Amino acid sequence: MKIANLLPRRPAPPPTEAPPQPQRRSFLRQLGMGALLAGVAGEAYMMLRALVPNVLYEPPLRFKLGSPQQFPEGVTFLDEHRVFIVREKDTLHAISATCTHLGCTVKDITLDQPRRVTIQGRPVDIHAEFHCPCHGSKYYGEGTNYAGPAPKPLPWLAMEIAPDDGQLVVDASRIVGHDFRLKV
Ligand code: FES
Repeated sequence: MKIANLLPRRPAPPPTEAPPQPQRRSFLRQLGMGALLAGVAGEAYMMLRALVPNVLYEPPLRFKLGSPQQFPEGVTFLDEHRVFIVREKDTLHAISATCTHLGCTVKDITLDQPRRVTIQGRPVDIHAEFHCPCHGSKYYGEGTNYAGPAPKPLPWLAMEIAPDDGQLVVDASRIVGHDFRLKV
């Protein structure tokens, strides 16, 4: 009998991992670089996206209303545009229906009888008023505020006749004076 067979056997050493091959190392490096670039691109996109505001769907400030002849004497409310078109014989003007307090839509009230009031020192006969349902502001028919928290009159909006088709055009981006009249 051999002596070597009598000695306790040593456990076999664990198999050592084979060193990564150059091809595999290069693949891993490219994978890491790709992930890094994707992360940087994502961050850059998020930063740029934050600079661009979300789209707001606001009504256009300049709009056509068809033939001027369709507006009868007195006040016509256009719900879609929140504007009053006022005809006085052969003139038209437009008054915003947006309350100057916090932006509610005011209602037009036709008076049973004309009422004489003083506006900027002048006596004026008014036939209608505008009342705000939200906090009780009141305006004379030509837009001057006289009661409630509204801080200023309802603005008058610019109007013109479109040269191409003769339609009435309101430009809500331009405020005009209370002496504005569009002859039609
Ligand atoms: S919003 Fe009109 S009175 Fe307040």
